[in-house]
Amino acid sequence: MNVGTTIIKCRHSVRSYKPVPVEDTIIRDAIECARFAPTAMNLQPWLIGVIRERGMLEKVAGLTDHGRFIADAPVCFAVFGERKAKYYLEDCCAATENLIIALQSYGVGSCWVAGDKKEYAEPVRRLLRVPDHYTLVSLLPAGYPADIALQKKKEQDEIVFFDQYKED
Ligand SMILES: Cc1cc2nc3c(=O)[nH]c(=O)nc-3n(C[C@H](O)[C@H](O)[C@H](O)COP(=O)(O)O)c2cc1C
Repeated sequence: MNVGTTIIKCRHSVRSYKPVPVEDTIIRDAIECARFAPTAMNLQPWLIGVIRERGMLEKVAGLTDHGRFIADAPVCFAVFGERKAKYYLEDCCAATENLIIALQSYGVGSCWVAGDKKEYAEPVRRLLRVPDHYTLVSLLPAGYPADIALQKKKEQDEIVFFDQYKED
């Protein structure tokens, strides 16, 4: 256990936020952490939108199926990947997770809302006027938690093997 692993283990998806802005310094530092995520061939094939205007948050929320709570978040990140980069999905998922952990380290909760594979990926891209060589990978509403729901996690023994998998 150390500070880093404790922050990771304390993270839970947060879908209900206090009506308090997230400071610019926190937003900027979270994006710095996203920027440092690993990428295939170091392509860094991403573009990160920061949405704070209430009207825009409501429009993005309205396009999603399971992300209506974006409307009430103080901020929502939108991670886009360059379609031509073979591993844009993995790269942008790594960036998204770095955003999540960085925000958590400041006590800011967030919830990954699917973007890739969703019918609303294109409408969200067009709404935000993002060029079409990018595609939406994730939406990440964030804010200080008003409520946190804890999800059950699989035990380590259910998910691990060492050296070679063996049937019980
Ligand atoms: C790729 C991905 C897509 C997700 N999409 C949604 C979503 O559209 N709406 C939502 O409320 N949660 C979404 N989640 C959050 C999951 O529901 C959540 O991570 C899961 O229930 C486990 O809970 P925890 O994050 O608190 O550990 C998504 C998570 C991932 C990784």
